[in-house]
Amino acid sequence: MNKELALAIDVVRPLVYVVGEEEYKIVSDIVSKFIKDIDKKCDTNCGRCTECLKAVEKSDIEIFIYKTTAGLMSYKEWVMEFEKDIKPKFQLFQETLSEIAKVTPTNKRTLYILLDVDTYLQDTSSNINYIRKLKDIALNFYHDQNNIRSLIVLSSELAVPRKLQRYEEVIFYSLPTSEEIAQKVNQIVDDYNSSVSSASKKISKEYDPSVMLGLKGLTLFETEQITLTSIKRHKKLCADEIKAFKKSILRKTNLLEIVETDLSFEDVGGMEPVKDWLSKREGVWTEEGIKAEIPQTKGLLLLGITGCGKSHLSKAMARQWGLPLISLNMSRVFSPRVGESEANFLKATKTIESLSPCILFIDEIEKGFAGSQSSTFSDAGTTARVIGNFLTWYQDNELPIFIIATCNSIQYLPPELVSRFDEKFFVNIPSTRERAAIFDICLKRYKRDWRKLNISPTQLADKSALLTGREIDQVVKASIVEAFYEQRVKNKGKDKKDLTTVDLRQDHIEKVLFNKVPILKTMEDDIKYLVQWVGWDEDKKDGIRANYANRREEDEKDDINKLLNDVLSSKEDYIKGWHNKGSKK
Ligand SMILES: Nc1ncnc2c1ncn2[C@@H]1O[C@H](COP(=O)(O)OP(=O)(O)O)[C@@H](O)[C@H]1O
Ligand SMILES: [Mg+2]
Repeated sequence: MNKELALAIDVVRPLVYVVGEEEYKIVSDIVSKFIKDIDKKCDTNCGRCTECLKAVEKSDIEIFIYKTTAGLMSYKEWVMEFEKDIKPKFQLFQETLSEIAKVTPTNKRTLYILLDVDTYLQDTSSNINYIRKLKDIALNFYHDQNNIRSLIVLSSELAVPRKLQRYEEVIFYSLPTSEEIAQKVNQIVDDYNSSVSSASKKISKEYDPSVMLGLKGLTLFETEQITLTSIKRHKKLCADEIKAFKKSILRKTNLLEIVETDLSFEDVGGMEPVKDWLSKREGVWTEEGIKAEIPQTKGLLLLGITGCGKSHLSKAMARQWGLPLISLNMSRVFSPRVGESEANFLKATKTIESLSPCILFIDEIEKGFAGSQSSTFSDAGTTARVIGNFLTWYQDNELPIFIIATCNSIQYLPPELVSRFDEKFFVNIPSTRERAAIFDICLKRYKRDWRKLNISPTQLADKSALLTGREIDQVVKASIVEAFYEQRVKNKGKDKKDLTTVDLRQDHIEKVLFNKVPILKTMEDDIKYLVQWVGWDEDKKDGIRANYANRREEDEKDDINKLLNDVLSSKEDYIKGWHNKGSKK
């Protein structure tokens, strides 16, 4: 059972809010706690069978359960609800609250469990009477010296009105452990095996390790559904079936989406330090990694100049690791309605947990979190609270979820968030060698074999200093259009067939390069801030607050700073000079 809830029950907290997906399991866990020392009950201590129900009667606890559809019921009535025709009592929430508030002297401890009443606890004026009544109950239970009574609100959605925040403890009921999942799966497989006669049709319990890893993060209910489907369709537990099922969970939320990508590290030019860092950590999530107790890496922040391949690399790493890439849209988390942003974030994290092992991709993270510094003035602290929730979740999460976040404007990101990432890389404009690699990749992407066309990526790299990866991509695209245009003019009036193959030449690319004004020119303040923020450690030969993501040759190292300095100081003249220099080479 969840330790926090066990403690809250032991110390008789008058009002507890439990957020959890599996109400049967949670209620059974609570009941089992009270009957565990009673002799006569079933082996699994299920809390629901006839023996267990008898044990509950013998125990020193009395449990009542409320549902809007059936009103307030005794525990036994709740268990038998669908077998016996039970007339609802106190069906209105207001009536139930009044009933609960009444003191009926009993020598037993009393526990009220309210299911799915979160709608009555949203912070709206129409709910004011319920909220007040609940506060009365909490205070009354607390001060009552003669009776031990407590109330548990249980729902999959969190709704704690501000007025109750100081009276109510919130507990997140974790998803089933690996052991609980294995127990469930084994039970289903046993049932299946005993139903088939021929030995060849029986299912082996030696499951593929990725199956058990894949089931992690699902509820027992979902585990059962997927196990049964998998057995029916494949006559075994199938990892792909589990993956597909997890994908279908995503369709239920608009905060998250799976990013489909076929990019690999080979499609990313340069950034070797980041690739090395990621490659070393590949497999930390697997069953073997977890068994070997390899410390889990939780997250990586890529910060830097726009268009230098941060998002591109994130996508490639997901493929490299063979894990799904789930993108969280931070700006969709925020909502102007009170409490909804926090609730959205909670919903997103619960869904992400159910999809683990996975990579959580938060692109341009500053877009959601920016403005937290002034949040007390602008949004009543919502941003600050969501950041707080994010940090707590990041810290406490033990599921295999790797977070990769990108950021273009570090000045908008709260420092406490930045410091939390295991590693930070500063993605700078590419070095000469990296530019050559990017030219190679882009030419290949647009199906131009540079070897056959006599184009030299190395020479192009020399002539494209200061350009970002995105700009190189744009240059290659524009050059192909240029070549096509040239051919069209040349072949005017001739057979259109001559246009179907376009001969791209190096001078087409050079011509486009010559006219390209680097984006660096238009965002000098941002870049200056970024470079200064990262800092430079002369001993380490690397950045202070983030590692440099781009490896430069010895003789290039000063070059980049010089280039940046030149760009940041004199600009116009420099750019012109650079173009001239470039075209002469
Ligand atoms: N290092 C790189 N290797 C290959 N392509 C790159 C690289 N950097 C940028 N690109 C190209 O530029 C585009 C924009 O890059 P992106 O990752 O969106 O930049 P950022 O996220 O840093 O703003 C990519 O889709 C890719 O085509
Ligand atoms: Mg990006």
